[in-house]
Amino acid sequence: MAKMWAGRTAGMTSSIADDFNSSIRFDSKMYRQDITGSMAHAAMLAQQGIIASAEADTLIAGLEQILSDLDSGALQIDETCEDIHMFVEQVLTERVGDVGKKLHTARSRNDQIALDIRMYLRDEIDEMVLLLGQLLEALVEKAEQYPTAIMPGYTHLQRAQPISFGHHLLAYAMMLLRDIDRFKDCRKRMNQSPIGSCALAGTTYPTDRYFEAKQLGFNSICLNSMDGVSDRDFCVELLSTISILMMHLSRFSEELILWSSWEFRFVELSDSFTTGSSIMPQKKNPDMAELVRGKTGRVYGDLMALLTVLKGLPLAYNKDMQEDKEGVFDACETVKMCLKVFIGMIQTMTVCTDSMKKAAQNGFINATDLADYLVKKGLPFRSAYKISGQLVSRCMAEGAVLETLPLSVYREYSDLFDQDVYEAVDLQTCLQKRTSQGGTGAASVQAQIAYVKERLAQ
Ligand code: ARG
Repeated sequence: MAKMWAGRTAGMTSSIADDFNSSIRFDSKMYRQDITGSMAHAAMLAQQGIIASAEADTLIAGLEQILSDLDSGALQIDETCEDIHMFVEQVLTERVGDVGKKLHTARSRNDQIALDIRMYLRDEIDEMVLLLGQLLEALVEKAEQYPTAIMPGYTHLQRAQPISFGHHLLAYAMMLLRDIDRFKDCRKRMNQSPIGSCALAGTTYPTDRYFEAKQLGFNSICLNSMDGVSDRDFCVELLSTISILMMHLSRFSEELILWSSWEFRFVELSDSFTTGSSIMPQKKNPDMAELVRGKTGRVYGDLMALLTVLKGLPLAYNKDMQEDKEGVFDACETVKMCLKVFIGMIQTMTVCTDSMKKAAQNGFINATDLADYLVKKGLPFRSAYKISGQLVSRCMAEGAVLETLPLSVYREYSDLFDQDVYEAVDLQTCLQKRTSQGGTGAASVQAQIAYVKERLAQ
């Protein structure tokens, strides 16, 4: 079939070239944005006297009908069309006649596609922010249930100091709040209209780009037409924002995988978010968390692919840029699925406070508090640190723990030790005495919960 752009050539391309060149498989996703953009364009053309008002009315009514027919399924996307822009224009012209051919006045597919992606991704960001809010709600709800449940906090994956489970969860809440900020920031920069940049240099028609931008909910317009059609920073920025979020979800997944192992047993993921093994009857596998961790690699790939596509491109539009969409759409789909799974996984997981507590009891995670105890009695920290270390090593040799080590043994190391040492090394005391701002003490955990809730209410 001859192309809509036939002219300079007969437009008779080989079918292999057609398949290779075509983008309708993935850009038809944006039919709503494409059609909405075209309606605003027709309105602008009429307002500026470039086409007649009656013509714009016909175009807009035709476009509205196409949109509702696509929504209802009455009209199917024709996959033999080169892209969504050509498809819509072709159907419009079939339906309203020659006036359909006026729609593309003062416009190019170069600014049209740039417009469509921005509008599409804007909506995607709104969905992601919504899902992030739901995940934060699930996290806060769990943190509120366990503000004082003791678990070992780790460094180097070695038991380090006691923390509360709520405090641990809230660390992720802080990361996710920053992710929300990044999405919103990215949306702000994305929300500039490229339409009216035309092919690359602007146009000789008396267009009003601000009119179109306003109709389509943009804050402003891209001030340089070449930048308007060439810029894909907003895709890269969104991909990096999604990548950072995926990195957070992946770290969290890693912890959930560890925690749900028999070695830890800190949480039990619900049956609805785990799988069984086809051969080992005892197994309950954290597949969802593993997939989130795995899909993080895929999203990083999407980011790297686009950066690489763009790095050598001369201005302005090059067909290479058609490669922007599949990766960015894939990342959006992937992260939304991961968020949905995560919300359910967190909401339904059981927290095994007893095994957390047990793990906290056997790793000498109160050794710092023991040293601090001696410091409060007047010993310099370095000396106190040494004595505390010697006591830990003594306990280890004898299979004892600091909580029940006889006072007589303590006194072999320093006569500053007294009966009150037992309170100092009690794990709940260790936790609750960490009253510093942002620490694991109850007041700080409550303050964090209040902060997250306040941010969610905004
Ligand atoms: N399918 C193209 C893309 O995704 C639309 C823009 C085509 N422009 C062009 N001059 N061929 O980038």
